[in-house]
Amino acid sequence: MRKAPALGAFLVKYDPCRKIRGGMILSGNLTLIVGPMYSGKTTELLSFVEIYKLGKKKIKVFKPSMDIRYGVEKVRAHSGIEEDAIPLENPEEILNIIDGDEKAIFIDEVQFLSVKVYDVAKKLVDEGIDVFCAGLDMTYKQNPFDTTSKLLSLANVVIKKRAVCFICGEHNATLSFKISGGESEIDIGGKEKYIAVCRDCYNKIQRGEIDVHSHIG
Ligand code: ADP
Ligand code: TMP
Ligand code: MG
Ligand code: ZN
Repeated sequence: MRKAPALGAFLVKYDPCRKIRGGMILSGNLTLIVGPMYSGKTTELLSFVEIYKLGKKKIKVFKPSMDIRYGVEKVRAHSGIEEDAIPLENPEEILNIIDGDEKAIFIDEVQFLSVKVYDVAKKLVDEGIDVFCAGLDMTYKQNPFDTTSKLLSLANVVIKKRAVCFICGEHNATLSFKISGGESEIDIGGKEKYIAVCRDCYNKIQRGEIDVHSHIG
């Protein structure tokens, strides 16, 4: 593995499009897209990818290597749209992989990366590279994902998405609920394991007032 470039090493690259004013590099933006499962986080991330691609801007797309739902080198939305992505074990690998003249980098399922992604994202935006991250804010037990929480403090743009509640059908689902597959809060899966629900329906399920399984299938 190559050694991570020192902070500032990217600056030596000539890039006519880099955001420069008065000889100073302008910082990039960190955009964080959060919400429960099925809320459109990946779709929104991919719509930003498209915008940069349409502008012929150089980008790179990353994902945690542990997310093997749709193949290790793909970011994929529940609707089926997808994009090639570079799998990461460790967020610091991003600094070895990028060339330094990217306009933006994109990370899906960021909740599965270590909190070191905070330092990586800070370096990149300080170098004028836009960073877009999408991820779950909470586990199905309503515990915050540490990495997402930390990125929330750094982000200058936060997009909080909602899904359609699986029980009541309203577009106000902010929570994910696990319907099968054991108790683990780190558990890759899709519709066979998780539904999106609003807070009222989540609480009704917890109190036994709704039989979630009678709504499935
Ligand atoms: P996320 O990354 O937040 O899980 P995706 O962008 O992968 O979301 O998927 C969003 C798509 O999921 C929607 O465009 C829709 O086609 C589909 N979908 C399935 N179930 C739901 C739901 N309960 N609410 C909203 N969209 C849903
Ligand atoms: P999604 O937000 O793009 O739908 O993907 C979320 C992924 O996170 C999916 O693989 C399921 C997993 N997950 C957990 O590991 N723990 C949880 O508590 C929840 C809600 C999802
Ligand atoms: Mg997603
Ligand atoms: Zn509901």
